[in-house]
Amino acid sequence: MDKRIVLVTGGNRGIGLEICRQLAKENLKVILTARDPKKGQIAANTLRDEGSDIIFHQLDVSDADSINAIYEFVVNEFGRLDILINNAGIFVDKEKLALNVETDIVRKTMETNFYGPLVLSQKFIPLMKKNNFGRIINVSSAWASLTNMVGGYPGYRVSKTALNALTRMFSAELKDTNIIINSMSPGWVRTELGGQDAERSVEEGAETVIWLTLQANGSASGKFYLDKKEIDW
Ligand SMILES: NC(=O)c1ccc[n+]([C@@H]2O[C@H](COP(=O)([O-])OP(=O)(O)OC[C@H]3O[C@@H](n4cnc5c(N)ncnc54)[C@H](OP(=O)(O)O)[C@@H]3O)[C@@H](O)[C@H]2O)c1
Repeated sequence: MDKRIVLVTGGNRGIGLEICRQLAKENLKVILTARDPKKGQIAANTLRDEGSDIIFHQLDVSDADSINAIYEFVVNEFGRLDILINNAGIFVDKEKLALNVETDIVRKTMETNFYGPLVLSQKFIPLMKKNNFGRIINVSSAWASLTNMVGGYPGYRVSKTALNALTRMFSAELKDTNIIINSMSPGWVRTELGGQDAERSVEEGAETVIWLTLQANGSASGKFYLDKKEIDW
């Protein structure tokens, strides 16, 4: 069988870069994407220097033209996409409460963390259907859990809760297909977003994504995972 083709958003650094590194080592065809072509090329070259077979393409998940361009690239180059990893994310309301957050900050966060995965998934799911195979992994956050919801970081939390809702909806709407979609939390990870005091390495943060990606056949859909175990929504 041909190599599985996986597209990773926000692949130039942090957890996304580590996902690309590990999946390339697992012999998948990895399309590393980044909104900044320079940063993306540098990241792809670093992985190539380590011996990985990496394809780079620009993708800003908050830009409809950029989403259309990568779709055309994937269709023309491969005719299919097996796995989509919605990893790109921003966290720009660290000091804010729901009581005082500017709506512009919430909107901006939703553009990347929610609308990006929504539009990308809508674009690629028909292609996955055509090929009768698809896996989508939404990199969410334990902070999105409604069961454990507390105050603070309103835009970030709400964007990831909305992303989780999308996981459930797509999963229900695709129940009669071979397309499986799940959310996961990487835990608190040492990246630009997580900060240097975080408890986990990028390798640990990527672990559940890799596990979900490699479950090629027959895994559950519409679930939320942390450390390879199901957690409350
Ligand atoms: N680190 C944690 O503790 C933690 C905890 C829970 C969940 N997460 C989630 O894990 C995912 C990865 O985060 P990280 O910790 O690896 O953060 P990171 O190091 O800040 O990386 C974020 C990535 O997203 C990219 N990005 C941002 N906006 C984008 C856009 N519009 N289009 C395309 N790419 C965009 C960034 O690109 P630029 O370099 O161009 O900015 C960067 O590559 C995020 O979804 C985050 O919410 C992280």
